[in-house]
Amino acid sequence: MSLRVAVLVSGEGSNLQAILDSVHGRDGIEVVAVASNRPDARGLERARAAGVDTATFEAGEHPDRAARDGAMAHWLEERGVELVVLAGFMELLTPGFVRSFAGRILNVHPSLLPAFPGLHALQQAIDYGARVAGVTVHFVDEGVDTGPVVLQESFSLPYAAGIAEVEHTAHALEHELLPRAVRLFAEGALTPDPDNPRRVLVREGADVGH
Ligand code: GRF
Repeated sequence: MSLRVAVLVSGEGSNLQAILDSVHGRDGIEVVAVASNRPDARGLERARAAGVDTATFEAGEHPDRAARDGAMAHWLEERGVELVVLAGFMELLTPGFVRSFAGRILNVHPSLLPAFPGLHALQQAIDYGARVAGVTVHFVDEGVDTGPVVLQESFSLPYAAGIAEVEHTAHALEHELLPRAVRLFAEGALTPDPDNPRRVLVREGADVGH
């Protein structure tokens, strides 16, 4: 098994760190590129510390977002990237980029999709008065947090919980689910259900972490 992985980050990069710590360099999985839309993203430092190639693609430095995404796709393709992982990448990717890596982009989102897509998902869940929250890893399509679900887990949302506590719980779950999804992809254990392309079949026995 071998898989060349790229991770896109905009900020802290704790999910990138979880991937570097738990799947990078194991069983043929290699993080070969980390890109950001922001030069100050801490995730870039984490990548450099792990000896991974980095680059910044700021929207403002290209004529438009499609051109920026095209340059980023080109940079990833040059490195032979087979899977793109969005780990706190806070911009929408244009359809051309999604098509370049169709079925090969994963995202992690801190809600039980389709509930609370978009920004500030945990705060949305708290404000709504939801009793459970969760984390979803999904394939990326051209919509906002709409692609087929790969892994999803819930946790209870205590009534008085503050955002910091809830973020802590969600992050811990993200750090477990996202590397697990990368490993499943590398094993070829994820396939679209031929009867319903919205559904992802996980090969039986493959998801040992569950
Ligand atoms: C995560 O909560 C992710 O779900 C959201 O942005 C956050 C990124 O955290 N989209 P980090 O940069 O991986 O620490």
